[in-house]
Amino acid sequence: MRKHHLTGLIVVSFLSWAIVIYFILEGPHGNRISLLKSPDIDEKLVVLEEKIKEELKANEVVRSKLHQAIELRIKEKEKAIEDEKRKIQIEEVYKVESAEKEKIKAISAHSDSAIAVLVFACNRVTVVRCLDQLLKYRPSPEKFPIIVSQDCQHEATANAIRAYGDQIFHIQQPDQSEIQIPPKEKKFKGYFKIARHYGWALNQTFFNFNFNNVIIIEDDLDVSPDLFEYFLGTLPILLADPTLWCVSAWNDNGKLGLIQQDAPHLLHRTDFFPGLGWMLTKNTWLELAPKWPRSYWDDWIRQPEQRRGRACIRPEISRTRTFGKIGVSNGLFYEKYLKYIHLNDKFVPFTQLNLTYLLQDNYDVQFVKSVYESMVVTYQELKANSIVTDGPVRIPYYTKDKYKRTAKMLGLMDDFRSGVPRTGYRGVVSFFYNNRRVYLAPNANWKGYDITWS
Ligand code: UD1
Ligand code: MN
Repeated sequence: MRKHHLTGLIVVSFLSWAIVIYFILEGPHGNRISLLKSPDIDEKLVVLEEKIKEELKANEVVRSKLHQAIELRIKEKEKAIEDEKRKIQIEEVYKVESAEKEKIKAISAHSDSAIAVLVFACNRVTVVRCLDQLLKYRPSPEKFPIIVSQDCQHEATANAIRAYGDQIFHIQQPDQSEIQIPPKEKKFKGYFKIARHYGWALNQTFFNFNFNNVIIIEDDLDVSPDLFEYFLGTLPILLADPTLWCVSAWNDNGKLGLIQQDAPHLLHRTDFFPGLGWMLTKNTWLELAPKWPRSYWDDWIRQPEQRRGRACIRPEISRTRTFGKIGVSNGLFYEKYLKYIHLNDKFVPFTQLNLTYLLQDNYDVQFVKSVYESMVVTYQELKANSIVTDGPVRIPYYTKDKYKRTAKMLGLMDDFRSGVPRTGYRGVVSFFYNNRRVYLAPNANWKGYDITWS
């Protein structure tokens, strides 16, 4: 019984396998390759395999050609994008360059005859207070092109400057990198930044825009109505006298009570570099530029190596005043001295005055005579107004301490820079007190400044 079953099962299995195979090979479509009908099935299979292989190969060729074509298109597209990008970049650079050239051309338009007014700005929008006054008093935009040089890239300040349109030129100091500062001087970083800015902007003004003379103004200065007339009138003297190296609008002792209020026309020579609104020539800049310091430029410029015995012209009554209580230096100095400086408000026609009395040969003879022929008085006598003579008087000093004590009592600035007292000329500090000219003066045989006095 079991044997019969097994045989039956084998027969049934074989039959079903044969039927399945038949239907697979004899399917409704395709070549009729019948296992059952064809005896040389192997051969046919080989042919079939060959055909399939060939077709696959042909497909592969097509596929790889297609792939290459796509790759090429992608590469071409990428290159086109790159080319376009590069073109835009070149155009941008060119645009900037030609805009820059146009700007330089515009700024330099009258550089032969003009005096550039270089205004230093950083991050104080109050620069507009200064600019408004400069524009109000400027006699001619051609004669006095105003260049506002901005450090710090402060956007609000930049916008405030831009608002003046083509009345002024706006340039920006590009180097905003961190400055290497000795650890001990970290808190004086501002002075390093100012010196860097000054160096850059003055190089631009003299060497890029080609001006011969420049008036340097800081953004926290008020100016007098005759500021431009003052510089215009004194320029010939500055150029004529090699013992002069600047004209300044500032009187360090210019507060009411120390100035001759009825003498706005009066000018002096001083060995103390005052800054704060001053005129510089290209020749002097050529000398200073190569050794320009990294910081504290104003004290550096006062050193004997830079000053080389030269003097500045300064007014009896200041043509500038600072309103910059908040700035790089502390507000204390401002509160104690700076805010009291009296700003001149009368217009003096300096270009029509004979200013040759300021030339060294004329000035020194007169000055020395006036100082050392004046009556010697004490501070107490001066203060008490008990002096009988009408002319100028002199209070002598022989030591640094005597100088400082007397200066303090009189309300004069009592500090020295490279041994020179503020407003000093040949060691003498000249001022006006109780209605008379007063000289705080060393001995007549004075031999020069002592740089250890500080
Ligand atoms: C003081 C002097 C100033 C001198 C400076 C440098 C007085 C009243 N002022 O500056 O004449 O130039 O020391 O020794 O004696 N600025 C920049 N970049 C900065 C910061 C400031 O360019 O990072 C500009 C300001 O815009 C301004 C000038 O530098 O025009 C002076 O700055 P300020 O903050 O006013 O410092 P002061 O203490 O007055
Ligand atoms: Mn200032």
